This record gives sequence, structure tokens and C-alpha cells, in this order.
Amino acid sequence: MSPKRDREDGSNDGKPQHERKPKEEVTHPRKRFYRARAHSNPLNVADFDVPTRPDDLDWSEHFPEFLQEWRDRQQQQQQQQEAGAAAGPSSSETPAVRFVDIGCGFGGLLVKLSTIYPDTLMLGMEIRDKVSAYVRERIAALRREQPGSYRNASVLRTNAMKYLPNYFKKGQLTKMFFLFPDPHFKAANHRRRIINTHLLTEYAHLLAPGGWLYTISDVPELGEWMKAKLEAHPLFERVSEEELEADPAAGLLALSSEEGQKVARNGGATYRNVYRRLAAPRKVAPAAADAEAEADA
Ligand SMILES: C[S@@+](CC[C@H](N)C(=O)[O-])C[C@H]1O[C@@H](n2cnc3c(N)ncnc32)[C@H](O)[C@@H]1O
Repeated sequence: MSPKRDREDGSNDGKPQHERKPKEEVTHPRKRFYRARAHSNPLNVADFDVPTRPDDLDWSEHFPEFLQEWRDRQQQQQQQQEAGAAAGPSSSETPAVRFVDIGCGFGGLLVKLSTIYPDTLMLGMEIRDKVSAYVRERIAALRREQPGSYRNASVLRTNAMKYLPNYFKKGQLTKMFFLFPDPHFKAANHRRRIINTHLLTEYAHLLAPGGWLYTISDVPELGEWMKAKLEAHPLFERVSEEELEADPAAGLLALSSEEGQKVARNGGATYRNVYRRLAAPRKVAPAAADAEAEADA
């Protein structure tokens, strides 16, 4: 019998079996090897390096192919300009991270966003060591499996409640995601919540005017808490349902992440609150703002 040649997908190159190169198998990380404690105390954890300022971080370690391609394009355009040819529109600004997924967990949102916005650099930030290692491996495996894809997504381990300004400059971000943040139910632990008045001011500083801050929770009380904090903050306004309908990212909030999928499997309800960073502060009743700020403490 003649050796079996082409498979239907053409992946055998028409060669007999003994001549075929073994296809490189891409192994994906398995979550069970990256299990970690459910929570870290965000007020304590600090055993990782943090850049002193955003310029100290070498982003080409996170996005090597993406940035190399940009540099090659820049060089090409410069050569064309020097040769007197029309070189088309160019942006000399080095690409920077625009989207962040804060507390990204196992990275489900990040990998979905990566293919929807392939030209945007995005970063997951996760405090748990093993969980951030899992996301790093997950992205590396996806990049190997689908060359050219996922090179705009990366992850780093950090405490986002403490160090965001060490990574990003004023107005740099256009989208910030907070999917199913830890609820910290006890009143004594509310100061650990990642949405609070003080941190919203920091997020407003890092968001470009017009940038969006996305939140979702399955805990009604936390959904209300986040909404109340955002409503009382003068630098944010609620995004309308019509705008959310038209926004691909808003449609991902409930089901893209691992936590969201768990909530859906258990039939839980979700509470989505998305706000826009205003260019100038709006008027907020001072009593409401003060009450929310006091409740954080
Ligand atoms: C309930 S999980 C949700 C994970 C993910 N967003 C999802 O929807 O599947 C909350 C995540 O936030 C992370 N986290 C909590 N505090 C953090 C902090 N200060 N900085 C970075 N990550 C944090 C936790 O380790 C955890 O992975």
C-alpha cells in the first residue's frame, strides 16, 4: 500500500510520512499548574521590581515583534523621504500601551481584545505571581501557534493599586478594564477595593480625555459601590447604553474572562458600569463627593 500523502488541510506538504518534518507542537500552559491562593493583600504584596518611572521600562521585552516592525517601518519611511519619494503618512510617536486590564486574572479578556484591536498595545496587570506567569505562558503559546497574532498583548506582575504611575504617563491610556474585582466584603477591608475615590483620581490622570473606564461585578453591593464612586467623581461621566452597544470591548465584559465565565455557568447576574474620562471636571454635589471619599477611608 502506498504511504498516505496529503491530508485534507494540506498540512503534510504531499510528502510520504518518513520525509515529513515533525510539526512543532505548541503546548499551552495548564491552569492547574498555576493555581494560586484566591487573594493577595493588595496593601502588602511588594516582592517584584517596579520601574522608578515609565521611561525606565523596556517595552520591547513585552512587545518585541510589534515594536521591531514599527522601527522597520520608520526606517523605511525615512529612507523613502531621503530618496525624495512620497512616503505616506507617518507617526513618529513610539507606540505605547493604551489598554490595561487591571487584575487580569488568567487573561481571558486580554487575549480576546488582542485580536479585536491588533494595532493597539495592551497590558494585563496581575498581582498574583503564578497567575501572571500563566498569562505570560498563554500569550507566548498563542504567539507561537499563530505567528503575527497576539504580539500586541502582554502581562506583568504588579500591585496596580500602588504602582500604576510608575508604568504609565499622564493621559497615556484610552481604556482601563476592571473585571470582577475582588469584593473585599468586610467594611474594614473596603479600603482594599480597587475602585475608590482616591484611585479614580489616579485613573483619571492616566486616562486620556475621552478614555473609558470599564467595570463589571457579580456582587450587587460592589456594583453599586463602583457606580456610586464614579457618579460622585467630577472627572467621569456615565457612558450611554447606545454607545456601549456600538463598542466591541463593552460586549466582552460579561463573558470573556475566566471569572465572568464562572459567574455565567452559575447563572449569576452581572452589574456593568462604564464611565468616560472628561476633559474638564463636571459639577458634582459636594456632599455626594465628600460622602464617597469618606466611605473609602
Ligand atoms: C476575582 S479576580 C478577577 C480576574 C479577572 N479580571 C477575571 O475577570 O477573570 C480579581 C483579580 O485581581 C487581582 N488583583 C487584586 N488586587 C490586585 C492589585 N492590587 N493589583 C493587581 N492585581 C490585583 C487578583 O489577584 C485576581 O486575579
